[in-house]
Amino acid sequence: MSQNIAELKQEFAAKLAAADSMQTLEEIRVDFLGKKGSVTELLKSMKDMSPEEKKTFGQEVNVLKNELAQAITEKGEELRRAELEREVASMPEFDVSMPADLDRGSFHPITLVQRECETIFKSMGFHVEDYAEIVSDYECFEALNIPKHHPARDMQDTYYLTNGQLLKTHTSAAQNAIYKKYRDDLVNNGVPIKAIFPGRCFRNEATDACHENTFFQMEGVMVDKNISISNLIFFMKTMLSEVFKRDVKVRLRPGFFPFVEPGFELDISCAICGGEGCPSCKHSGWLELCPCGMIHPEVLKAGGIDPEEYTGFAFGLGLTRLAMMRYGVKDIRDLNSGSLKVLSQFKEDK
Ligand code: PHE
Repeated sequence: MSQNIAELKQEFAAKLAAADSMQTLEEIRVDFLGKKGSVTELLKSMKDMSPEEKKTFGQEVNVLKNELAQAITEKGEELRRAELEREVASMPEFDVSMPADLDRGSFHPITLVQRECETIFKSMGFHVEDYAEIVSDYECFEALNIPKHHPARDMQDTYYLTNGQLLKTHTSAAQNAIYKKYRDDLVNNGVPIKAIFPGRCFRNEATDACHENTFFQMEGVMVDKNISISNLIFFMKTMLSEVFKRDVKVRLRPGFFPFVEPGFELDISCAICGGEGCPSCKHSGWLELCPCGMIHPEVLKAGGIDPEEYTGFAFGLGLTRLAMMRYGVKDIRDLNSGSLKVLSQFKEDK
């Protein structure tokens, strides 16, 4: 291996080991792999070499490039995990060891957040729908443009039942039934479909402070003629401003879900730093809150709606995450613990 490559590797390893934020990591990536980065410079230095030398050197640099990219990805995952733990640690405190106050009952924090969202959406003309927890493969996947053996199924580790049904992995599993329920009113009477459907979801996740195999989402859909991304942004912004009791800024980033096209991740401006950047928002000024997008034509078709005539948006709000943010619950497992010590602390919000 050439001297330069060995030196560069050493320098990279030292910098990578010292990196303690995503921002520094990104700087390292640009320094080494960017357009003007050291690796690109190495490639430029090849121009005076003989064809033979070029070949071996070029291969070495390519191997190096892949190695560095891989190391950056791994470090990124490590930093993201650490930042998530810091985020959780910086949340407001509630006391897990307080004695239970059993004089009167109280609502579960997720119920409180759910009801608040329901009130807001009802005031904007949305129906609130309840839906089953055990659903068919068709409802959870096929009707959502995720055929059998599609790699997108890997994103959701599913509990299959022996009778061929499954525990729903996301509230999107109710979309098909909702379209079918309201489609006649849409087509015959011109009534837009506007519905939200909160529900419990299940995924076979290894549990830790941030992951549970059982969690709550709230799905929302709107279908009508000429629905566009601006409608989606308007409804999300209005809802989130009500929930957070302030005017929130939102931004959309591309995100992939087979049942929306285009698909987005919706972020809100960080309340803690006001968008300047802090550990809670991973120094980006934004918090990831809600995947969403324009409903895929195949999904509308499966619901009996002509995508040439109608369009719509869908979103999947993480209710459990919202409740954790709102009430400063650091460990997601407390929410399913059934512990009265924990749960009786939220009663003043009733
Ligand atoms: N169902 C998706 C999930 O749980 C979220 C989603 C809902 C994305 C609606 C886009 C539109 O991962």
